[in-house]
Amino acid sequence: MKDLFGREIRGLRISLTQRCNLNCVYCHHEGESAARSEMTADEVIRILGVAKTVGVRRVKYTGGEPLLREDLAEIVRRTLELEMDDVAITTNGSLLAKQAQALAGAGLKRMNISLPSINPCVYSSLTKGEIKDTFRGIALAKSLGMEIKINVVIMKGINESEVDELIDYSKGVGCSLQLIELEDLNLDRGFFNDHHIDLGSLEQRLASKADQIEERLGMNGRRRYIFGDSLMVEVVRATNNPHFCMGCTRLRITSDGKLKPCLMRSDNLVDVLGPIRQGAPDSYLRLLFEKAIARRSPYYVGPSLQ
Ligand code: 5AD
Repeated sequence: MKDLFGREIRGLRISLTQRCNLNCVYCHHEGESAARSEMTADEVIRILGVAKTVGVRRVKYTGGEPLLREDLAEIVRRTLELEMDDVAITTNGSLLAKQAQALAGAGLKRMNISLPSINPCVYSSLTKGEIKDTFRGIALAKSLGMEIKINVVIMKGINESEVDELIDYSKGVGCSLQLIELEDLNLDRGFFNDHHIDLGSLEQRLASKADQIEERLGMNGRRRYIFGDSLMVEVVRATNNPHFCMGCTRLRITSDGKLKPCLMRSDNLVDVLGPIRQGAPDSYLRLLFEKAIARRSPYYVGPSLQ
């Protein structure tokens, strides 16, 4: 199904919990405000069955930290049983030891792992966690054959100087690298102003150094910079970037079961969990999807341009 601006809906990003074992200073909490309940595995799978009827084929599980859900492997397995083309998770990687095997057994092949610094002290001060736990998680997931993308939110005065090291590290461990511009949502304004840096010039630098550049039609029209014969680097600039919004084919669901047409907005949510718990049939849930899709606006303008 297409939205009012011709964008096909293909992906669903589902927050499974707001709980997290880390406390990252830059975290946008997926644009959520405090949630009271979490969806059960049955509810998630029911929602996905309906999502499929509007064209969703790609599912990403996120949090908080999705590994805090002990039923994550079950959810992944049941998602794949729905014959989705792609199922992945976004995790901080520190809790993988307990569940990585089960996730691989459930059929998971891809994950994004957040690693905001490769300096142990900077990592700890940013996340309140220990970098060795995440390094161990990355090694374990790799040993199980997972395709891994390392997510790094780039912040001025904190980790902006680490880009070359991050490239070397990612190449060394056989992961791709995703450099993300800091988004202001749910952040302290002072923190954002102090540490936001436009990634335009970084992207130009990558473009001049890369051995190959791939344009992708999906994935928000993002470019991929290829280094050597294997390392892939992507730059995500989601704010004040019409190309990003134009290429957006994704809906979201908050951990308390509300359809969220745009990461950056919380004023246009459509509750599905409430109706599910009141016994709504699938036909009604489908209408709720249509309502959320109709609420997708063409372009999000961030505060700096308003
Ligand atoms: N700006 C941009 N990206 C962010 N993430 C978390 N907070 C922010 C922010 N303020 C990204 C992290 C994480 C993913 C779930 O969201 O890279 O991997």
